[in-house]
Amino acid sequence: MLPFEAIPLVEVPESDRKNPVAYLMRAAVERGPIFRRRTTRRLQSRYGPWQVYLIGPAANRFVLHSHRHLFSHERGWHAFFGGVWDENLLYLDHATHASHRQVLQPAFTQAAMASYLPALHRVIVSQTSKWGAPEQIETRGALRAIAFHAVAEALLGLGPPGAVAQLHAQRDRLCRNPAPFGKRAYWDHIQTERATLNAYLRDLLATRVDTQTNDVIDRMLVALHADPPLMTDAQFMGHLQILLEAGHTTTMDVATWVLGFLATHPHVQGRIRTEVDAAWATHGSLATAEALRGLPLLSRAIDEAGRLRSPVDTAPRGTLTEIEFAGYQIPPGTFVRLHLGASHRLPDVFAEPDRFDPDRFAPPREEEKRTPYGLVTFGGGPRICLGVTFAQTELRALTAHLLHHYRIEPVADETPSNVYNPGEYDDSLPRGLPLRFIPRHAIDT
Ligand code: HEM
Repeated sequence: MLPFEAIPLVEVPESDRKNPVAYLMRAAVERGPIFRRRTTRRLQSRYGPWQVYLIGPAANRFVLHSHRHLFSHERGWHAFFGGVWDENLLYLDHATHASHRQVLQPAFTQAAMASYLPALHRVIVSQTSKWGAPEQIETRGALRAIAFHAVAEALLGLGPPGAVAQLHAQRDRLCRNPAPFGKRAYWDHIQTERATLNAYLRDLLATRVDTQTNDVIDRMLVALHADPPLMTDAQFMGHLQILLEAGHTTTMDVATWVLGFLATHPHVQGRIRTEVDAAWATHGSLATAEALRGLPLLSRAIDEAGRLRSPVDTAPRGTLTEIEFAGYQIPPGTFVRLHLGASHRLPDVFAEPDRFDPDRFAPPREEEKRTPYGLVTFGGGPRICLGVTFAQTELRALTAHLLHHYRIEPVADETPSNVYNPGEYDDSLPRGLPLRFIPRHAIDT
């Protein structure tokens, strides 16, 4: 076994720092599935002196499945989020994690999804019905609000919409910390703003109209009040926080990109619209589980946007013990980045990996099935994304509704160049993503 010092060293060039995916993919092709990077002095208290990158299907299988017990989620995600959230499902390790996941999981099954659809549809219709006038919409900002309301109202049963909008604004105040990481002012900001967020959440919980029985909040309340309790009050609040956070930033990203790609690939958009219109004609609605299940072309386009612009591009971990991977030794306490986004660009896993090509998932190609752990947009193993079915349902419902009612076009001089050249990666979209929505016919409610 080679020592830690022998792990190839990378220094992401200044030009690639904002978005290192293409650089990391090239590094993995040239140097193999493991390399290390020195942490800048400013972030050493957060990540330690070194960060180890693991990239590719073998690394995905190792970290997410076969050797997952050697890694801590808590040490990875807590540092990654800069300590913003209370202890939550994403942070928990081993037996504690398993018992909490068991509490939440039944609210996320395929069967549970049908009960969320009416509220999900209400959110989508109310937030998009005016999109044709004016035609140009800053899609990313609009989808951010939709995704937050979808989790808060449809999954958690919180409301009314005005109060949910205030909750969202408080989330932004908490996350936009003006102080540099680690300074006293940084932690003071988190303490104050998180307490305010929790107070908002408690108010909304107190006035919640419980439309579904045994939903995720009901299940957590039973666990909280069990004797002995299965979770603490802080964990209850932390789970709520992470459902809202992980449940909206991610779907917002994929929704933005799928609309952006469809706007710049009108032929694909046309094929999917034909499929969506046929489902509408058969089911008389796009808001039922049956209608959404029968949309293979749309589902592949969503999967492809998720592959190319993976919203969770890093699964961070801390090593709990000495680990051997690919012949190298990684000491305990090392911050590891399993880079899902770079893994999705490997040319030996996906043909022409930088191209938006939903048909790669169709028979006979089925590229995602050729390499186990090749496509890991939602992670994998026992800790695969808790919200995967909710996210897929929401993304299908939203895009199907939009395609049925609008023709989507790019705004030539405004759309970021990365939408036109999928090889370039800049998912920070500083100017948002303006698109044109041209109404086809009146909105059904
Ligand atoms: C396109 C949308 C989404 C993507 C791409 C995504 C991706 C992921 C990934 C990659 C992980 C695993 C992280 C790791 O292994 O460290 C994860 C975990 C998780 N996700 Fe998602 N997610 C999405 C939507 C959602 C939604 C809608 C929710 C909730 C409403 C959610 C809640 C969670 C939670 C709670 C975990 C932690 C699960 C555990 O550790 O047991 N996610 N997600």
